[in-house]
This record gives sequence, structure tokens and C-alpha cells, in this order.
Amino acid sequence: MRKSKRVKKSNFWKVKQQQDHYIKKSKVLGYRSRASFKLLELNQKFKFIKKNVFLLDLGAYPGGWSQVAGKLVTSGKILAIDIKEMKPINKVNFFKCDIFDQSTKGRILDFFNDKLDVIVSDMAADTTGNKSLDSIRTNQICTEAIKLSTKILKKNGTFVSKLFMGEDFLEVKSLAKSTFKTVNFFKPKSSRNESKETYLHCKILKTL
Ligand SMILES: C[S@@+](CC[C@H](N)C(=O)[O-])C[C@H]1O[C@@H](n2cnc3c(N)ncnc32)[C@H](O)[C@@H]1O
Repeated sequence: MRKSKRVKKSNFWKVKQQQDHYIKKSKVLGYRSRASFKLLELNQKFKFIKKNVFLLDLGAYPGGWSQVAGKLVTSGKILAIDIKEMKPINKVNFFKCDIFDQSTKGRILDFFNDKLDVIVSDMAADTTGNKSLDSIRTNQICTEAIKLSTKILKKNGTFVSKLFMGEDFLEVKSLAKSTFKTVNFFKPKSSRNESKETYLHCKILKTL
């Protein structure tokens, strides 16, 4: 890309960020990311974060979703996971680890000493600039999270995850439908219109 085009594009994003209502609101409310509003909207619609739940936040950095969970879960337990280090959040425990690591499942179960009520995942692969590839990589992560949920979620538990409306969307949808009794899709207003991201809300594991 030519330099003048690059400068114009980065100015465009700066202005867009400054005008973004959710970025302003997250600063006022002290949230670490505008993503907080996505979890708030998801929970307003599906009401899965109760005060006493055991909740796992996958792909938690920088912590917007964990902050929301930390306010709503008063007598349960919260574990946040990311491959990046995350600064501490009140009432949220953090493990720096990768969902694809063999040891991750055991570490989670050891922490809760039981199965979980809620798994939320906002995990996304680092962007490469190739939208199709980015979407496939993020949907692979979502697929891994669904597989993990079959091993660590209570039968009546809830699984919520980001995924992309890319070419492999139908494969992920079909895996979700064969894993859970109830499967919904929801795009929060706070998710940018131009983004192909949407969210899966699933509950009640099918008996395998
Ligand atoms: C969109 S950000 C999450 C934002 C967060 N929900 C918030 O509210 O601040 C996606 C995160 O997924 C994490 N991630 C990507 N692949 C992962 C993996 N294999 N295991 C754990 N975390 C992963 C990234 O490091 C990144 O921090």
C-alpha cells in the first residue's frame, strides 16, 4: 500500500475510534475494552450469568468481559485464561495459558474442583489482513472451545462464543447443534456492523 494511502487509512481509523460511542462509554465506566458491552448485551438477552456461577472466561485479555463477570458473580468463582498476560481484576483468577495446550483442561478442573456453569469465549486469532484466513483461524479456536466445553461444562451449563460468518460458519454451527440442545446466534449492537463476528449462545449438553 502507498504511504499516502496508509496515512489516510490510519487517520480514518483514529477518527472512527474517537467517534465510537462504546469506546467513550467504556472509558467513563472504567472498562478495559469496548468488548464489555458485548457481554452485557449477551447476558441481558440470555441471562446466563447468575451471582453464584462457576464461570470461565476464555481469551480474557485485556479484561473487559472479566470485569463484567467480576461485578455480576458475587458468590461464585471466575477463572480467566489468555495467552497474553492480564493485569489483575478483583474477584477474577487468571491463568496465562493456551486453550490448545494438553494441560489446560486439567488446570481448569483443578481450579474449580467441579464442572462449570458458564463458559464464555471471546477468543480470536491475531489478524493477518486476510479476512478469510482470520475467520477460519478464529472459527478453529471456537471449535476447540466447543470441544473443551463437552469435558468441563455441567450438563445444564451455558456456552457463549465469538465466531465469524465465514466460509466454515456452517461447520461450526453443525458442531454446536450436535453438542448442545439449544443453539442461538446473536450479534450485539456493540459489535461493529462491518465485522463478520457474531456470537453463539448454547445450553444443555446433549448426552454423548
Ligand atoms: C478479542 S480479544 C478478547 C477481548 C476480551 N474479551 C475483553 O473483553 O477484553 C481475543 C483474545 O483471545 C486470545 N486468544 C487467542 N487465541 C487464544 C488461545 N489459543 N488460548 C487462549 N487465548 C487466546 C487473544 O490473546 C486475545 O487476547
